[in-house]
Amino acid sequence: MKNTASFAAYKKSPNRSIKHSTYFETYDELFGRYRGKPITFVEIGVLGGGSLFMWREFFGEQARIIGIDLNPNAKKWEKDGFEIFIGSQSDEAFWQEVKQAVGPMDVVLDDGGHTYEQQIVTTEMLLDNIKDGGMLVVEDTHTSYMPGFGPKKYSFMRYVAQIMDRMHYRFSKISGPTDNRVWSVQVFESIVAFHINRDASNRVSAVTDNGGAHDNAVDFRHADNSAYGRLSRVYRESDALKKIPGVRPLALFVKDILSRAKGSGRVSRFFR
Ligand SMILES: C[S@@+](CC[C@H](N)C(=O)[O-])C[C@H]1O[C@@H](n2cnc3c(N)ncnc32)[C@H](O)[C@@H]1O
Repeated sequence: MKNTASFAAYKKSPNRSIKHSTYFETYDELFGRYRGKPITFVEIGVLGGGSLFMWREFFGEQARIIGIDLNPNAKKWEKDGFEIFIGSQSDEAFWQEVKQAVGPMDVVLDDGGHTYEQQIVTTEMLLDNIKDGGMLVVEDTHTSYMPGFGPKKYSFMRYVAQIMDRMHYRFSKISGPTDNRVWSVQVFESIVAFHINRDASNRVSAVTDNGGAHDNAVDFRHADNSAYGRLSRVYRESDALKKIPGVRPLALFVKDILSRAKGSGRVSRFFR
């Protein structure tokens, strides 16, 4: 913690800021590449202004540092060169105004009220406003496991899990609701980062072949002598079988049943 650039900036801030002891390595890892660059950085949650000065110190004078808070008192930090917007992060109309005024953002850090509604509405409203190569970072995500921040069924971390499920449904061989807004999700203790790369996250996800020489190597996934292995081999090696109507869905059904039986006994202990 102590030898990170973000901790040094935090300590140098003339005003009080409250950050957790485990966050500084994460900040350096996520935000280090933006230092000295003319980025647009938005932090939700101004409180005593301490973190505004911390981020200016960390990113440098070229960065545009913007604060968002419900408390109108935060406006006073405009005299120090920060841009401040007053409103609620759970208000969709407020975000439309902010997006209009600010334009595309490189980095957003949500250190606001930490309820699931606030975190989810903020993410939903801002993902499409993050530049390619940029990120939206939500901190204090441990509130998903604490009482008093909203219904557990709709906790922020459950929402993150849903986004990760939907990213996987981009694979063309499966169907289900997809999410093409997020390229990757990075999870730290109490911090989640959504990385944006529109070209990659909107590409059709399909198997490719580099066209190299084929030496007929056997895929050992299908080489074992279990009932699953044998059945799978019979199906894969028989073009005639594959052509019979209804055989493919039946084969997939049997494959699924056998694979469930095969795996569950060994790995269930890791889910306790
Ligand atoms: C944890 S403090 C921010 C701390 C600050 N980032 C720091 O590092 O010192 C949370 C801030 O979020 C603000 N806040 C709470 N609910 C909010 C909401 N719905 N919309 C915007 N800001 C909110 C509070 O007024 C408070 O200033």
